[in-house]
Amino acid sequence: MKKAAALCILQFAICISIHAGSTAQATHAALSTVNPAATQVGLAVLKKGGNAIDAAVAVSFALAVTHPQAGNIGGGGFLVYYEAKTKSVWTLDFREVAPGAAKREMFVQADGNPSKASQIGPLAGGVPGSVAGLEIMHDRFGTRSWRELIDPAVQLARGGYTVDPELADDLATEKKERGIDQFPSTAAIFYPNGQPLPAGAKLVQPDLATTLDRVAALGAHEFYEGETAKRFVESIRNAGGILGYRDLREYKPVWRAPIAIKFNEYELFTMAPPSAGGLLIGEALNILSGYDLAAYGFQTPKAIHLEIEAERRAYIDRNKYLGDPASTRIPYRELLSDERAKAWRATIKVNAVTPTITLAEPGSAVAESNHTTHFSIVDAQGNIVSMTTTLNDNFGSGYVVPGCGFFLNDEMDDFTTAPGKPNLYGLVQGAANAIEPGKRMASSMSPTIVLKNGKPFMALGTRGGATIPTSVLQVFLNVAVYGKSLYDAVAAPRWHHQGLPEEVFFERGMAPKETLNALLAMGHGIKERDPIGDIHAIQINNGKIVAVADPRHSGAAGGY
Ligand code: DON
Repeated sequence: MKKAAALCILQFAICISIHAGSTAQATHAALSTVNPAATQVGLAVLKKGGNAIDAAVAVSFALAVTHPQAGNIGGGGFLVYYEAKTKSVWTLDFREVAPGAAKREMFVQADGNPSKASQIGPLAGGVPGSVAGLEIMHDRFGTRSWRELIDPAVQLARGGYTVDPELADDLATEKKERGIDQFPSTAAIFYPNGQPLPAGAKLVQPDLATTLDRVAALGAHEFYEGETAKRFVESIRNAGGILGYRDLREYKPVWRAPIAIKFNEYELFTMAPPSAGGLLIGEALNILSGYDLAAYGFQTPKAIHLEIEAERRAYIDRNKYLGDPASTRIPYRELLSDERAKAWRATIKVNAVTPTITLAEPGSAVAESNHTTHFSIVDAQGNIVSMTTTLNDNFGSGYVVPGCGFFLNDEMDDFTTAPGKPNLYGLVQGAANAIEPGKRMASSMSPTIVLKNGKPFMALGTRGGATIPTSVLQVFLNVAVYGKSLYDAVAAPRWHHQGLPEEVFFERGMAPKETLNALLAMGHGIKERDPIGDIHAIQINNGKIVAVADPRHSGAAGGY
């Protein structure tokens, strides 16, 4: 884990409180993002009187430049927004959709296994939603000019960004493991002379700067129907992809009703389908509300066991029912009902495992998670942004769109690519999430805002694929049930169960041996793995704001 370090970014005129991978205290406004330069951009907007949506737009474009692993204009995401004036919560779905020419079995090979084409190269890309999403949230709630909010990103792309150690590592890993340097357009920017850019090198992205500049001047229309669209479609076609002009022209973000979950004096607002976040967190909390977790104690084997068993059951439902609500009937009411929670609770043994195979259909193994990014922002008026955005894998499909300078996502892999087979996150999904033209692929992203006794209390979210909802759930419980400070709640060891495989994943070396032994004795299979997630959270308490960037990574919290 990285030690918290105070950081002052000198290329900006003002030196303000930004802490890498740690906590910032504030009285007016605060934010936490995965990248110190993006946090700096957002903080400058907030200090100039911009609101949380203005800052979110500026941060998103900045991340597309400084955090190309997940920051993007070639991907999509979800926004959860608390508007202080009306005390209401809005959620925006700017998830990618399958191109019109997509086919249900386009990734199934002769042997029934999915091909790698859903994870790398131009076929892997869903129609990007980010630029349309950012514009629509800005049109509705923003107060500063669109151009002013994109300009810092243009400058970072044109003037250059000093490669940070995490980016350098990720570039090296993705060359080794997925060969993303096979695309000349990617190699030209990130692998000069065939080698990944090392930490400290200058990353200059002139094509991306020009694309951003055009979008700043002409709006999202430019991306979906202008010069960028033309370059995008022609490049994709030349490279064997299927995304076309009509796909871009017809892309639309959707304002949705949030999923609201009551838990004691708290109310959580999070994403509805096509994200699984709301249903998973809601079902798990409903099941857990039947136990006195606080009495069991923080991270005791009994409490962890119950949380694992709740996660397992929520995932069984997720994998069966989740898909795009436009084409699949999702039984929300039934899944989130007290009766269902009661029925699931009746199957839980307090001292022993219930194997998933005895509860539902069998499945397979989990893969390591890759990349997505979350940020949380609160402004001086009390508006709150909780937003998660993604390219899916690190650097998405690995394919930089030639002449445009941005990575295309590989979100097609979030569909059920081959029936009965696991995707990148080991999820074995059903027909509800099959590929269909124009359809949104199911997601796990769970940006969340929590009210306590009706007042804004927390905003949180993370990257981590299938582990996202379970990480959000655990950090919430650490604060709400176990009374931990926000920093301790985020730093605490995490685990993850997703129904299948049968094992529970623990962060390597973080949980005490006695705890793991006690869980083994109850019948849990335990697998250790790399750190789970990268939470960026904010807590508001009696006018004091605390922002926390997960100490597992090198993000930055800031505030004033
Ligand atoms: O939408 C989803 O669920 C995935 N595309 C998220 C990917 C992700 O979180 C990878 N990050 N570590």
